[in-house]
Order: sequence, then structure tokens, then C-alpha cells
Amino acid sequence: MPTSPRKILVTSALPYANGSIHLGHLLEYIQTDIWVRFQKSRGQHCTYVCADDAHGTAIMLKAEQQGVTPEQLIAQVSAEHQADFSDFLIGFDNYHSTHSEENREFSSLIYNRCKDAGHISSRTITQAFDPEKNIFLADRFIKGTCPKCKTDDQYGDNCEACGATYSPSELINPRSAISGATPVDKDSVHFFFKLPDFTEMLQQWTRSGTLQEEITNKLAEWLDSGLQEWDISRDAPYFGFEIPGETGKYFYVWLDAPIGYMASFKNLCDKTPGLEFDDYWRSDSSAELYHFIGKDIINFHALFWPAMLSCSGFRTPSAVHAHGFLTVNGKKMSKSRGTFIKARTYLDHLDPEYLRYYFAAKLNNRVEDLDLNLDDFILRVNSDLIGKVVNIASRSAGFITKKYDGYLSTTCSEPELVASFITAGDDIAILYENREFSKAIKTIMHLADQANEYIHQQAPWALAKQEGQEQRVQDVCSVGINLFRILMIYLKPVLPQMCAKAEHFLDNELNWIALEQILLNHQINRFKPLMTRVEQDKIDAMSAASKEAISSEPQSAEQQPIDSPLNNEPIAAQIEFSDFAKLDLRIVRIAKAEPVEGAKKLLRLTLDLGGESRNVFAGIKSAYTPEQLEGKLTVMVANLAPRQMKFGLSEGMVLAAGPGGKELWILEPQDGAKPGMRVG
Ligand code: 2FM
Ligand code: ZN
Repeated sequence: MPTSPRKILVTSALPYANGSIHLGHLLEYIQTDIWVRFQKSRGQHCTYVCADDAHGTAIMLKAEQQGVTPEQLIAQVSAEHQADFSDFLIGFDNYHSTHSEENREFSSLIYNRCKDAGHISSRTITQAFDPEKNIFLADRFIKGTCPKCKTDDQYGDNCEACGATYSPSELINPRSAISGATPVDKDSVHFFFKLPDFTEMLQQWTRSGTLQEEITNKLAEWLDSGLQEWDISRDAPYFGFEIPGETGKYFYVWLDAPIGYMASFKNLCDKTPGLEFDDYWRSDSSAELYHFIGKDIINFHALFWPAMLSCSGFRTPSAVHAHGFLTVNGKKMSKSRGTFIKARTYLDHLDPEYLRYYFAAKLNNRVEDLDLNLDDFILRVNSDLIGKVVNIASRSAGFITKKYDGYLSTTCSEPELVASFITAGDDIAILYENREFSKAIKTIMHLADQANEYIHQQAPWALAKQEGQEQRVQDVCSVGINLFRILMIYLKPVLPQMCAKAEHFLDNELNWIALEQILLNHQINRFKPLMTRVEQDKIDAMSAASKEAISSEPQSAEQQPIDSPLNNEPIAAQIEFSDFAKLDLRIVRIAKAEPVEGAKKLLRLTLDLGGESRNVFAGIKSAYTPEQLEGKLTVMVANLAPRQMKFGLSEGMVLAAGPGGKELWILEPQDGAKPGMRVG
């Protein structure tokens, strides 16, 4: 009995409405789009929505700078974003904005439900204030001289020259980055979402088995060290939604951003007969909901968001799929190296499907950074797509068109070979489903090698010269065309445009559900090139244009998850040597180790640095008893800014390695090492 299609709702993170889309963003949209196209090709009912993330101080200030209203700015950016996405073949079913009526309604509804249930608190906080602009200043909007190394023009939370972290009040000569005025302290009432109320709910949800292992571990660490209330309000002037029942208080952009997923879907439902909002969002919905995001915004999606949803009577996500960052030629994207490449600059020089293919060939389902190596990019695309896939069709098509009026044979001369290609689809489908795209591509390319090998062995060009071999030539080329057809079905999620050209060439619609159909006695169209080679000079032109085109667009505090209550630690981003050199690694003796009441994973360590003593909380209780640790030498990061944890102040970090649980090992220097010695 045919099973009914799955109902799946998929989102990618909403891009801010004040900057251009670049290749870093595209890693995520391409990953999500491939997954969605795969589901659609398999006949599932899959809906992909997105929107511009339109609120916040940065957008307000940028509009002011440009002499337009925020509404005008976000309309213009939305048009630019949508053109970029469309040209990269990102097939959203709906693209909306967080500055929409739907979003206002859902934000108010969710807030009111949370408030009515007692999960919103308010209190007065003191913040830096720009007395000229009459605006509160987030840390990134304050600049001054670093209190440690005295370099001028550093942001309010860290020094780019020496790496020190501090609070804006420690800056020498602090000034507002907006007006230049000296900030003053000012009190105001803020509203907070009581995240700690959801600790137990989140403990369960994060262990529901649907998150990536790295994320589950990171979340467990955050949950164990204690959640803090989340500041969800900002004072006027602010571009956003005013908080219901309050005057001059606005929802913080990160409160209404994920609600934008719902708003975009609602907007789609209202124009699509048969698509019911409640089917997907009610608390007992059996539909699937997946958020694809970058690793830097995990806390917003895997803590605040599920907590707010559950608090307000909606379903929680089935899973959050996080990916790593994009590097180019092994390094962070850089404007001066010409590797900070905007979507439009790429499109001015290169085919979007090259990038879609390259990303697919390297993506897996882990939270790992992905490197776009431009030399490898040329080799990979040319060798796989032109050299292997297109080659199968181009070598087979000529004879069919010239000698047989475009008709394929009436029977299949290699049923086993064709059947093996069809059967391989089961594994490929599992790999796509699990977001193991690089493995899927590897399997597909292995099939392409087999198809080429078959044509090479049969050598229809030689047969064509022999008398009485006409049927054989037609049969071999027909098999080649059918193998090509199967490969294109497998590649359709990645290469929709090339696949559309192949559909025209084959005069046949290519969908996974029609995989088993074999084209027999079927007339194909004349073969036209499906894709051209990547040329080095185009890459060079793109890099040169990137150096010129980038106008610097500093990220504002609003755009960074810096006020995460969790010290939002990144997961293994690539760093420069100068970053590494900032680490003060020291050998220490564990003078004392003791359990921490109320913490499942933490031990309190008293570390002896050879004269100085530090208190550090380490999440190694699963692997060591306090007795096993006392007296041991290990390595610590001694210049980590102290962290206030629920259980006390942690003044550094000890280094440990391993997947977790019992398999976790602290580093143990050899005898002869002395506490206080520097490492590195
Ligand atoms: O980090 C960002 O670029 C945010 N604009 C992502 C928002 S995703 C969702 F929550 F809206
Ligand atoms: Zn400094």
C-alpha cells in the first residue's frame, strides 16, 4: 500500500536585512535547498520558508545613514536578497519578512502566553547610554582605548590588538560609536524570558535523539552550568515591534526572528488552499519541522526557541541541523584577499551550479567548517560534472540523433547494469536523507565512472564503422542514455538547472519517483551542452571584483549572539596563528578536586600555578573521581576571562580531549614539568 507523503516544514536562518548575501550564507541555503529538493523529488510534501530578519538597531542606523526609512531599506534589501537566492536556484516556497503583520501577531501571542504563564520577569538594569543620540548602547556600539594594551579604537567588549576581553566601563576614553559622545550610565526597566524555568523541558528535548552529537554535548554543558534569564526587550528608539501593554519598550530582534519562521509559513498558508497552519504548529502535530542554521546561533534555536514554543502551546522542532562556517582557500573569508565573495559577484562570473555541486561534494551532517578551495573547485567541477556526467550523454547522443532519428532501442540490452544503477538509489536516498551529501555524491560519481567504463569498453564509435553492427550501436548508446538519466535523477536536488536541460534533451521528466522507468523506443532531442567548464580566468576575475566590490559592513551588536546567557562558545572555527598565540597555556597542579552540589558533570578544581591559585569548574566528572585528579599535573588556559557560573567564579579552563562521558582525558605533562611553566 502506498504510504501517504510526509508533511515537512523546513527553514534556513533568516538573513539580516542590512547586508548582502555572501558565499558563507549560501553554504546554508544550498545545503537546505538540496535537502528540500530531494524530499520533493521523492514525493514528500515538503515546504521551505524563509524571510528577511528585518529588525534591530543596526538596521535602524543603516537606514538613517542612507537617509531612508527602515521600511524603505528593508524593502530594497529584500528585493536584492530574493534575486540572489533565485539566481542560486534556492527554491523557497515563501519568502517573507519579520517586519510583517503575521509576525507581529505571533510575537504578541507568544509573549502574552509566556507572560500569563508567569515566565516573564522585569527589572531595572543599568546600561551605557549615548546622551547625544538618546539611545542605549550595546557593547559593540562603544569604542575606546584598550585598558590592557592601550590600543585606541577598540570595541566595548574586546580588543582586536591584544585579545583582552573586558566590560565597556573598563575602556579608557569610552565613546559612542554612533555619535562620538561620552556614554553615561542610565537605568531602565527590561523584560526577561525566564529560561531557567525550562531547564527540565530542555534537558528532555535536547536529549530526544534528534540533535547532532556535538550539539547535544554543548547543550548539556550549558544546561549543567545553569541557564540565565534572557533579556528580550530594548528601549526606544528601536526598529521592531512594541511590546504589548508597554510604552517605548520593543521586542529584541532575536525574540521575533525565529517567530518569523511561523509568520512566513502563515503567510504562505493564507495564499495556499489546503495548507493548514495548525497541522504543522499545534502542540501535537505529526508534521516534521527542521531548522537549518549555522553553529553560531545554536543557543537561539535549541534553547530559547523550543522553550518559548513549548511555553506558548506550540510544537517544538523535530530537529535543528547546524553546519560549520565556510572558509575560502583554508582561511576565514577576507576582503583584502578577495575571498569575501558576495553572491552577486560570484554570479557575475560563474555558474551557480558549480558552487552547488562543490558544496554538495563536501557537505556532511556534522558541525564542521567547509573549505572552498578555489583550485580544487575548478578540478572537481570540471572532472566530475563535465568529464564524467556530461560525457556519458555527449558520447551517446550523437549516434542516436544522427543514425536513428533520435530514437532509443525498443529493448534494453543491459538490464542488469541498468538495474544495478536503480538499486543504488536506495543507499543514495538514505545518504541524502541523513544530509551526508558528500557520500551521496561519491556514490553517484562511482556510478558515473561505471557508465563511462561501459561506453569505453563497448566503443560505439568503433562499432559504427563495422558492418552489421547498427543495432548494437543503438543499444549501447541507449543504455548510455538511460544510465545518464538515472544519474541526473540522483543529481537533480543539487543541479536543478542542468537537470532541466537534461529533461528537455531526454524529453522526459526526471523525478526519483519515476526512477524505475526505462526509456525504450523513445525519441530524444538533439544534445546541447548541459554545462561549460569552469575557467581559471573567471575565478581570477571574481576574486579581483570581490576586492573592489566589498564595502565594509561592520556587524553590530544586535547581529551577534553576544548577549547569549551561555557565553556562546564557538565549535572549532579555524583560527590564525596570532589567535593561537594569545592563549596563555600553563602547567598546573590540581591541588584539590571536589564535587559541586547540584552539578552532574562539574568538578571544582583548585589549581596551583606555582605560587598562584585558581578556582576552575571542569566538566570532567563523568571521567574522573576527585581522588584520581588530586596531585596530577595538567594544562590550563590561564588567560581566559573569568566566568560567573551558577556555582561560583571559574577562573580559567583545563584542557581535556575525547568524545565525552567516560572517554574524556585531561592532558598530563610528563614528570619534570613544573606548575606555572608556559606551554606552547
Ligand atoms: O544570525 C543571523 O544572521 C540571524 N539573522 C539569523 C536569524 S534566524 C531566525 F531565528 F530568524
Ligand atoms: Zn588591547
